[in-house]
Amino acid sequence: SEAATWARPGADPRTEDPPRPSPPAFTNTPDTDPALAASRAWAQRVVSRATARRLLADPAPTQVLGTDGDVDAVVARAVGQVGPWGGTTAAQRREVLRTAGRLLEEARTDLVATMVHEAHKTVAEADPEVSEAVDFAVYYAEQALALESVPGAVFIPDGTTVVTPPWNFPVSIPLGSVLASLAAGAPVIVKPSHLTPRCTEVAVRAVREALVAHGHSPDVVQVVRAQEEAGRRLVTHPDVTRVLLTGSLETAQAFARWRPELQVLAETSGKNAIVVTAAADVDLAVADVVHSAFSHAGQKCSAASLLILVGSAGRSARLRRQLADAVASLAVGQATHLATTMGPLTGPPGAKLLRALTTLDPGERWLVRPRRVPALSSGDSPHLWTPGVKVGVASGSFFHLTEVFGPVLGVIRVETLDEAIAAANAVPFGLTGGLHSLDEQEIATWLDRVEVGNAYVNRHITGAIVGRQPFGGWKASVVGPGAKAGGPGYVAQLGRWHDGAGVP
Ligand code: ALA
Repeated sequence: SEAATWARPGADPRTEDPPRPSPPAFTNTPDTDPALAASRAWAQRVVSRATARRLLADPAPTQVLGTDGDVDAVVARAVGQVGPWGGTTAAQRREVLRTAGRLLEEARTDLVATMVHEAHKTVAEADPEVSEAVDFAVYYAEQALALESVPGAVFIPDGTTVVTPPWNFPVSIPLGSVLASLAAGAPVIVKPSHLTPRCTEVAVRAVREALVAHGHSPDVVQVVRAQEEAGRRLVTHPDVTRVLLTGSLETAQAFARWRPELQVLAETSGKNAIVVTAAADVDLAVADVVHSAFSHAGQKCSAASLLILVGSAGRSARLRRQLADAVASLAVGQATHLATTMGPLTGPPGAKLLRALTTLDPGERWLVRPRRVPALSSGDSPHLWTPGVKVGVASGSFFHLTEVFGPVLGVIRVETLDEAIAAANAVPFGLTGGLHSLDEQEIATWLDRVEVGNAYVNRHITGAIVGRQPFGGWKASVVGPGAKAGGPGYVAQLGRWHDGAGVP
């Protein structure tokens, strides 16, 4: 098993990090196994480091963009790398990506500590992000080679990429975009979220080191910090070819409006539902719903925000009680406490989330009422809330249709699977969705009709695994050609294709 690779004989759990395998040809990278004493000691050191801020790792050198001249200079440096980097062979790019994967693995402790400190992610939530970033490196390394094996067609690297990642996965999502662009031969400028710049900067440092190790300029990947105006000038700069955005649909639309020639490839929002029918295993369903709704305090585009109960499942006192008990027994606390299973929000709640946390619309009532937890010491996040579950959410209501991005789950009751699918599909987005049912006919019907990019049956709906579960949406959850991240075709959409005959 994967976990067995961690069992290094003779390791002293008090002093040694758990062993980290270096990735061979693509297999997924294991997360740290919390069952091992060495891993628990490591996690304790991670949170100690996150608490003592001065011990956090050096990030990649960051350029602060103030003036138009600053933006022009950064873009000019990227454009200066289009020839050298675009002129590399796929095999050379593969080597850089594989080294980046190894260096990201070596930086795991720094990355997790930075995420705990800056993004308020628990160790259990931050650790798989590093695994995913390593997976992206190794997977896209192979995809770079695959570009050269399409019969009768030639892939041509094309221009420069700006990456504008979110704060909720501040390591894996920016790194996925950066590494895919590098695999495609396009230099990158990354503008991290203002809430989590260091997480992204520490991760990018590993990629720059990989470039240098293979004799390339570190400027193939640059990191910048920019306020709104400079950020806008960056994405509208005429020498930027494309932007890879993970964020809101409104932002993606604004980018496209500002400069119609810009290629905008965006993964946007979700309003994801898990449908539970009378044919579900209730114990399994409740555990998966709670994990999907409240891991990382619901701050995932993939999170379950709606639970749609069908027929007698909606009248089941047992299901309701189990759900309420499971939610109430989440260990809510600061991310620096290892016992925490639901940590704070990364930043202050936006208006939609605040409304969802504090307001009931007609017909709704709290099954579990959320409340704000005051900060007790100066290092504590002031944005800690307990989880909420509201029942009686009406079809077409604010909560049914609006992405709130936080620890609130809304329960809708319907009589038939058809109505459940209609309620799930009524939202403008189509990112993830789940069904809990042991009935094969129900599973087939739901899979056939649910309008989501990632459909999960009888399991949780977050945490897609690179290669195994390529991740991406449908409807308003995606802008651009829409190949899924961590899947075939993602790198191939980041350049131009000529048929062989047309190329000199
Ligand atoms: N890729 C992330 C997930 O699947 C967003 O949860």
